[in-house]
Amino acid sequence: MKIWYVGAYGIVSTTAMLGGKLIEKNKIEQTGLVTSLPQFDGMDKYAPLKFEFNGHEIRKVENAYQACLQHWEQNRHFEREQLEEVRKELESIKAEKGTAINCGEGVRALGELSILEDELETLGEIVEKLEKDLKKFSDGNTVMINSASTEPLINYSEKYHGSLDGFERMIEDDVKEHASASILYAYVALKNRIPYGNFTPSPGSDIPALKELAEHKKVPHAGNDGKTGETLVKTTLAPMFAYRNMKVVGWMSYNILGDLDGLVLSYKENRESKVISKDKVLEKIYGYAPFSITQIEYFPSLVDNKTAFDFIHFEGFLGRKMKFYFIWDAIDAIVAAPLTIDIARFLLFAKKKGLYGVIKELGFFFKSPMGTDNVNTHSQFEELVRWYQENS
Ligand SMILES: NC(=O)c1ccc[n+]([C@@H]2O[C@H](COP(=O)([O-])OP(=O)(O)OC[C@H]3O[C@@H](n4cnc5c(N)ncnc54)[C@H](O)[C@@H]3O)[C@@H](O)[C@H]2O)c1
Repeated sequence: MKIWYVGAYGIVSTTAMLGGKLIEKNKIEQTGLVTSLPQFDGMDKYAPLKFEFNGHEIRKVENAYQACLQHWEQNRHFEREQLEEVRKELESIKAEKGTAINCGEGVRALGELSILEDELETLGEIVEKLEKDLKKFSDGNTVMINSASTEPLINYSEKYHGSLDGFERMIEDDVKEHASASILYAYVALKNRIPYGNFTPSPGSDIPALKELAEHKKVPHAGNDGKTGETLVKTTLAPMFAYRNMKVVGWMSYNILGDLDGLVLSYKENRESKVISKDKVLEKIYGYAPFSITQIEYFPSLVDNKTAFDFIHFEGFLGRKMKFYFIWDAIDAIVAAPLTIDIARFLLFAKKKGLYGVIKELGFFFKSPMGTDNVNTHSQFEELVRWYQENS
């Protein structure tokens, strides 16, 4: 299968490329891949573990090997020899230049960027170039995954985002203030019948215009924002209090992380989308909103090690208040990378089974699942298994 990563040189994308190639060569086990569970038997028929990777990127790096090595130098997140085993394969992955339109100050802080806006003037020209790159790479087994840095909230306009006609008018009339990189990438994917998975809280395909396009082109898509760490634990644990009819009165989540993702999220406008995505889950599980604090702070020396401290204040029998604390300490790319492969495989499966539009059953993978309010990890997993087994 072929995966086109938006943000191809990021730590999540390059870790997925590395792991994917090592799995293909039978050099590592499939630990961490949900699609390798016995419940998803037969997945290989639709999306074999043989990969071609590429994507769009905006930072100047020579190839995916160099990008992966740079991340390794900071993080030591795998054994160095593992990278050498697939050096040639990763060196041959040279990403195409992407767009950073309205990606905010956080993305500009990534350093000197190499972007299409430097050489192309209009949205129409940018979209045309993105489409050309994707078409050169893609075939019927291709999926696009957005794993680029988080964008600020979109400047939503019913006129331009509310319908496909409006969206195409925005491109034609070059209305830049209502465009953003993630919606342009998603547009190009869906228009070319390439399934699209949004691993980030950026809007991606989650606007009415692009949902309409996915329906019209009969192509599956899913998002938003990979559920990999603190929110995964939260949405697994939170139902327990509900099952026992205990009342959660307060939940504090304090996240610290470094690396490029942390740097981008240290900018208020970029962080805003992430906080909303993490914050909404409790209300969806309980039907009421406990007092909550959700904070994400940049902590450079941690690099890709994300640490989350959670404090839960809950009330039981006789109105007694009690406390629960947990600490999640994980390597972000290690928990995220396999999921991008899983999402791509499920989306390819959906396409091959003629399923299209928002695939809400993939909500298991996301913090803000599209098309459903179910954020309970337990029932999401059951739903995913049922969906796969009924359709395979
Ligand atoms: N556990 C996790 O790591 C996790 C969980 C959920 C969501 N995410 C999201 O996944 C994304 C990737 O995370 P990461 O840790 O790999 O970050 P990263 O900073 O290492 O990678 C992002 C890459 O995207 C590139 N990029 C930024 N804007 C772009 C654009 N407009 N077009 C093309 N490329 C662009 C950057 O240059 C960078 O190489 C982030 O948005 C993050 O919030 C990560």
